[in-house]
Amino acid sequence: MTTPVLEARDVTMRFGGLTAVRSVDFTVNSGEIVGLIGPNGAGKTTFFNCLTGLYIPTEGTVAYQGKVLPPKPHLVTQAGIARTFQNIRLFANMTVLENVLVGRHTRTKEGLWSALLRGPGFRKAEKESEAKAMELLEFVGLDAKRDHLARNLPYGEQRKLEIARALASEPGLLLLDEPTAGMNPQETRTTEELVFAIRDKGIAVLVIEHDMRFIFNLCDRVAVLVQGEKLVEGTSDVVQADERVVAAYLGEPFEGDPGEAEAAEVEAAEATAAHAEDTVADSAAGTTKGDTP
Ligand SMILES: Nc1ncnc2c1ncn2[C@@H]1O[C@H](COP(=O)(O)OP(=O)(O)O)[C@@H](O)[C@H]1O
Ligand SMILES: [Mg+2]
Repeated sequence: MTTPVLEARDVTMRFGGLTAVRSVDFTVNSGEIVGLIGPNGAGKTTFFNCLTGLYIPTEGTVAYQGKVLPPKPHLVTQAGIARTFQNIRLFANMTVLENVLVGRHTRTKEGLWSALLRGPGFRKAEKESEAKAMELLEFVGLDAKRDHLARNLPYGEQRKLEIARALASEPGLLLLDEPTAGMNPQETRTTEELVFAIRDKGIAVLVIEHDMRFIFNLCDRVAVLVQGEKLVEGTSDVVQADERVVAAYLGEPFEGDPGEAEAAEVEAAEATAAHAEDTVADSAAGTTKGDTP
């Protein structure tokens, strides 16, 4: 059964004269992985910021599990929405484990400062917290690096750590802003598997990404934002086939998937050109196109 986890109604975000997000209705249901795509500057990150309380939308409301969210990031996290950022935000000089422990502070009685300063209350809860954090590190494949400083991790692992930290707040919905940006194909595939595994834990996922192959493989549903407006929404197949989506992307090649598509086009063009040359050569030799095998 599908029940809405997230419902954004008529969300508009203006910055002065610029309308970055315009009257967007948007739903994520339980058990779903939903993609949000669109050209650079389309308003994707701004929309995320409206969902997570970082921005107060100029108009509209955002509800999580039927309750309208107050536009305050910590209250949104407490309600059950976690996110990662387009630009990695980790505590660079903390260990991998500490980064995840900090992510847990919304779910422990002890607050952030107690977690950081390791007060007496924290120490009591520490064992349980650490066990949970280690579970998450194992889940993303970073348990062996628990004591490494975050800044010493390779880029792809920093992204995974960010996801582990987000999961530490025990969300019902996870928002990922360009999780595979800067990743190699191998890392992207691992991330894809990780997102499926997160969904299998019962966490709904909303993901912004430029890598179309990643998005269309992964998502049950995809919404396309263009100039702040939701242009198309549907299953991967429907969205992929929509001419308006192709048009919206013209002039901006699909990042992450330009190689093969472009190579195929060039090959096809070359084949046509070669064939044309053959035909000309054949004609010169007194044969016709129909005679060639
Ligand atoms: N804090 C802000 N103040 C003013 N303009 C902003 C702000 N954040 C984003 N914008 C503008 O809103 C538009 C959408 O940006 P953004 O949401 O970052 O797009 P996307 O994530 O789709 O690339 C852009 O024109 C951007 O310059
Ligand atoms: Mg963005």
